[in-house]
Amino acid sequence: MATLITDIGELTTNVARDGDPCGTLRGAAVLVEGSRIAWVGDRADAAAVAAVRAGAAVVDAGGRAVLPGFVDSHTHLVFGGDRADEFEARMTGVPYAAGGIRRTVAATRAASDEELRERLADLVAELHSQGTTTFEVKTGYGLTVPDEARLARLASEVTPEVTFLGAHVVPAEYADRREEYVDLVVGPMLRAVRPHSRWVDVFCERGAFTPDESRRILDAGVAHGLLPRVHGNQLGPGEGVRLAVAAGAASVDHCTYLDDDDVAVLAGSATVATMLPGVEFSTRQPYPDARRLLDAGVTVALASDCNPGSSFTSSLPLMIALAVREMGMTPAEAVWAATAGGARALRRDDVGAIAPGMRADLVLLDAPTRVHLAYRPGVPLVRAVWKDGVRL
Ligand code: NIG
Ligand code: FE
Repeated sequence: MATLITDIGELTTNVARDGDPCGTLRGAAVLVEGSRIAWVGDRADAAAVAAVRAGAAVVDAGGRAVLPGFVDSHTHLVFGGDRADEFEARMTGVPYAAGGIRRTVAATRAASDEELRERLADLVAELHSQGTTTFEVKTGYGLTVPDEARLARLASEVTPEVTFLGAHVVPAEYADRREEYVDLVVGPMLRAVRPHSRWVDVFCERGAFTPDESRRILDAGVAHGLLPRVHGNQLGPGEGVRLAVAAGAASVDHCTYLDDDDVAVLAGSATVATMLPGVEFSTRQPYPDARRLLDAGVTVALASDCNPGSSFTSSLPLMIALAVREMGMTPAEAVWAATAGGARALRRDDVGAIAPGMRADLVLLDAPTRVHLAYRPGVPLVRAVWKDGVRL
């Protein structure tokens, strides 16, 4: 069954043209056949007319904006409990500390598969309703061999982009035996999650894992066929960015505290800098400087980091608004970062753009331009979402 979405006021294709990375078309139409995009062009083009004659269902966008489905390349969606009390305390001045992760670990271990699956399904519905059509999910709240394996398995039920984050923090029971914990991560835990995972991640930060431990964990993951990505430079300056680039990571995430060397190293690499402004919103830390990275030629992605501690939001429209207001990005750069940028961070070439052959993942806004995502913050502007050609 074919669908023609027509009278699109502003179409963001992300197929760069005439110096416009968003490849913006006006008065456009998109033809979807099955799960893929079959054709993109002017709504008055003969191909659009022929599609209607051939019986395609017609969706009239009424001059509104259409863009690729958002690609959220960084989430922690499988967990039990919540930490609203920590957020409330932070808003009175208590600083964020990675140690709070252990509370979610305890709640997650105590939850049944069914409870975790239901919570996950609710969160996935939340993502979809806000225009996210591709998302990554990390483990990291189990931190035992069976718990990490079950989180990876549950995540793999909702996405192919599963990341093993056994190196989230050292769990309480290993507090005095961290080397033993790293041995567990690179051995039995890695083997148990491997069948369900595509990526390996490590939280390289003071209070989490040292650069040497992080390197060992990434190397072990790569030796098992996983692709590396890194949480780095979130809570202070450090080795995270350099480590990620040296490991050939697809992405280094957070990038809140960068020195000139970090920026130069990123600029000379294929590693994406993924910014997670929901974290700065929710922890009252300074926002990362995306402008500095973009001006240096670094590829920037925007993601939600949805998790119960540092960023309990799944809204990429909110990330776009924050990136524009607080991080020096233009609306076009922010929308690109939340779509094509996320696809780069996940090394995906079938999502993040609207072109023939790509997956038919599309968002129709209740607004005439993508600028409205930042201009009208907090307003639910997502009017319709298609995932693999199916309207959600
Ligand atoms: O990406 N940085 C480490 N992990 C999460 C926080 C998780 C938590 O606080 O529960 C993050 O911000
Ligand atoms: Fe994270």
